[in-house]
Amino acid sequence: MSWLDEARDCLPSIRNKIYLNNASTGPLPQPVSNAVKNLVDYRAEYGDPWEYALDKIMELKERYSRFIGASKDEVAYAPGVTYAFLVILSSLDIDKDSNIVVSQHNFPTSLAMAKAMERRGLVKEVRVARDRGGYTEYSDYEKLVDENTSLVIVDYVGWLSGYIEDLKALSDLVHSKGGLLVSDMFHAVGVMPVNVKRLGVDIAFTGSYKWLMSLYGAAMIYVSSDILGDIEPRYMGWLSIDDSVFQRRQRGEDEFQRPFNALNYRYPSDASRFELGTPALTAFTALDESLKFLIKYDAPGKYGYHTKRIADYLAEALIDNGYQLYSHIERHSPITTFRHKNPQETARKLLEEGIEVSARPGLIRVSPHFYNTKDEIEELIHRLKEIDKQ
Ligand SMILES: Cc1ncc(COP(=O)(O)O)c(C=O)c1O
Repeated sequence: MSWLDEARDCLPSIRNKIYLNNASTGPLPQPVSNAVKNLVDYRAEYGDPWEYALDKIMELKERYSRFIGASKDEVAYAPGVTYAFLVILSSLDIDKDSNIVVSQHNFPTSLAMAKAMERRGLVKEVRVARDRGGYTEYSDYEKLVDENTSLVIVDYVGWLSGYIEDLKALSDLVHSKGGLLVSDMFHAVGVMPVNVKRLGVDIAFTGSYKWLMSLYGAAMIYVSSDILGDIEPRYMGWLSIDDSVFQRRQRGEDEFQRPFNALNYRYPSDASRFELGTPALTAFTALDESLKFLIKYDAPGKYGYHTKRIADYLAEALIDNGYQLYSHIERHSPITTFRHKNPQETARKLLEEGIEVSARPGLIRVSPHFYNTKDEIEELIHRLKEIDKQ
């Protein structure tokens, strides 16, 4: 069996359809659902697998850190990307007279949060790098970022257009002015090779339920060791203090033998200082299992010669058939989006024919992953033309 057939065989939810909607949610691999079922069955039958839970979270952090080219001390868990933003942005020591630069391509979370900070006087100004029609211009960032910029928040891959930002160029720019680069990498990690060190980002977030093919309720934070020591979490919890149950378990000690020093707590030296409370074990067990799945099939490694080629083929076929791309032809990820007069109706008709894409205002977004094929793209184009002829 080829790697492709083998991988697809593990994805029950795509058996009877052409699934091209990974930018919304990824299909759940069978080994992931098996692991979650086993966990829940164990919980029902025998009780809480507490120590297994601690080990699982530590194992996941190690696996995830390797996946993005970081060290395990630089990653922390969070219940979702939006919560990850909240934990980090509330903890950074941001000058009230500074400005924050955000991309208009970002998912609404970071824009809303930056604007809320501005409204409360936590920063002086939010500057937006404007949408140029599916992409942003680096020269706009050059105009917006100055010595008063505390943060630049730019999603690595745009959720609507799939535009891949040049994070390395941005980090050089931001660092030359003394600011930090924060990036939401939800649409990159899992499908593209990502190395946070090479990209030069200071802080990055990833969610679980799209390209990482897992459940809701799990997200990962990366904070570079270059700045980690300077960040004091704004609020603390029983798991973000030094000498937590995780650390005790790691040292081979009983987790509850000594009292916790919450009155005179110290911060742990690693990124666990941002982990406030008990993580959802089902969600993180699922995430660890889906990472194993993606590593087994080397999904990010297939980006250059398989996944990206499918997306390029799709973009070219759309253009050849008279559709207008919203995605940037040269700098888009597998997310390939085109303009359409009737996106909702068309997506619904495609779904009736067993093809799932997503409709957004004035746009249809197609988002293949490593397990999709050129044949599926051909079928999509064929059906799309038929529907548009009606
Ligand atoms: C880029 C990006 N960031 C964040 C989110 C939301 O993440 P969460 O639901 O974990 O807060 C989404 C959801 O679509 C997204 O596309």
